[in-house]
Amino acid sequence: MEIQTPRGVFDILPEEQKYWRFLLNIIENTLSSFGFQKIDLPLFEYNFIFEKGIGEGTDVVQKEMFYLSRKDEEEKELVLRPESTAQIARAYIEHGMHTWPSPVKLYYFGPMFRYDRPQKGRFRQFYQFGYEILGAPDSFTDAFLIGLTWEIYKKLNLSNLIIEINSLGCKNCRTKMEKMIVEYFKREKFLLCPDCQIRLSKNPLRILDCKNEKCQPLLESAPALLDCLCDSCREHFKNTLEYLDDLAIPYDLNPKLVRGLDYYTKTTFEIVKKGEKARMSALGGGGRYDDLVELLGGRPTPAIGFAGGIERIIEKIKEEKVEVPKLLGPEIFLVQLGELARRKSLPLLFNLWKAGFKITLALNKESLKSQLKEADKTKVKFALIYGQREALDKTIIVRNMVEGIQETIELEKLGDYLKKKMEEK
Ligand code: HAM
Repeated sequence: MEIQTPRGVFDILPEEQKYWRFLLNIIENTLSSFGFQKIDLPLFEYNFIFEKGIGEGTDVVQKEMFYLSRKDEEEKELVLRPESTAQIARAYIEHGMHTWPSPVKLYYFGPMFRYDRPQKGRFRQFYQFGYEILGAPDSFTDAFLIGLTWEIYKKLNLSNLIIEINSLGCKNCRTKMEKMIVEYFKREKFLLCPDCQIRLSKNPLRILDCKNEKCQPLLESAPALLDCLCDSCREHFKNTLEYLDDLAIPYDLNPKLVRGLDYYTKTTFEIVKKGEKARMSALGGGGRYDDLVELLGGRPTPAIGFAGGIERIIEKIKEEKVEVPKLLGPEIFLVQLGELARRKSLPLLFNLWKAGFKITLALNKESLKSQLKEADKTKVKFALIYGQREALDKTIIVRNMVEGIQETIELEKLGDYLKKKMEEK
């Protein structure tokens, strides 16, 4: 057995953490400043939440679920969550959130699991950040949520982003769309890939975003879904686009954007790099799901949300060499020499830390040279050298690691001295 992670999952090593912190800071600061509240959801749920919520005919439910079932304990099957919107709907019902001030605005962050074929930007465990607004039906809310998404991605300093947008209408429009799509493809069913031949009876709209080469010629001239919108859904979509125009958000109408989850109604959208195909490489996607809460047994609750894929965003941040702030490490390094200084160094270390200094020390090194070398690698501003003589004299040597100069300071005055020096920087 090789010592390695399973296919499609990976460790996030310390050197990667600055990207994650950068992203999470932007996400959390933006969302909380707009009044979203954080919710943490479990990593596994009863299968039916997703089966019913996402749709039995979807690839996610058909092919990508990880089952956890322990037959001795649970009657119903447990699965690792492939996404969190269905969980949010479950939580909304379970906690009676319809009694909370409306609309309910929630955000979340965490790993999702899909048994996909691992490839660039596609993993079996991947992280999403997401946010949902439950209880608001208007296009004004759609525009707010898309505007908010745009602002978050703008803060990441990525270039050439665009929103791809479509409307899937309400239940009635969807029935019309499915009928139209079946009509169009059934005549030439055998020109479709084997998966799409099955989709034709199970989930016809998904044919529109099939990536198989075989299907492309037929897809080119497929009829536009927007033609099936009823008056009210058409109005909703038109208003959404007008609000986006007011915000000067660049968008492309993509009449083939159907998304991979069945709960969507009306507005659907993805954020992509211009020129890269949505779904293959979307940096995030979302849309309205006005029927989901009711479908899972709650009251009718119009809702809209979005989720972004962290790994894909970080990949772009690296590709574009976006500058991200370094994580703050220690600023001071305590070097101790000899038995007496060693005995006194731990209380000194923790007292300085309690006084607010970012300070560390070497654990497995004894010589001055090796400890100073570690201080240098840690990139601290100051090293404190605490030897036998200093321990007896109640003094300490403060070495400026950048300038290479050092001074002996009375231990009593060390706090004030360091504070002043830090402020000078
Ligand atoms: P989704 O489009 O399935 O939507 O996923 C959102 C984003 O997660 C994708 O755009 C992509 O960036 C990332 N992602 C998805 N699958 C993978 C994967 N296998 N590996 C790496 N990244 C991946 C949803 O999950 C919906 N719950 C979004 C939503 C929220 N709709 C309404 N509210």
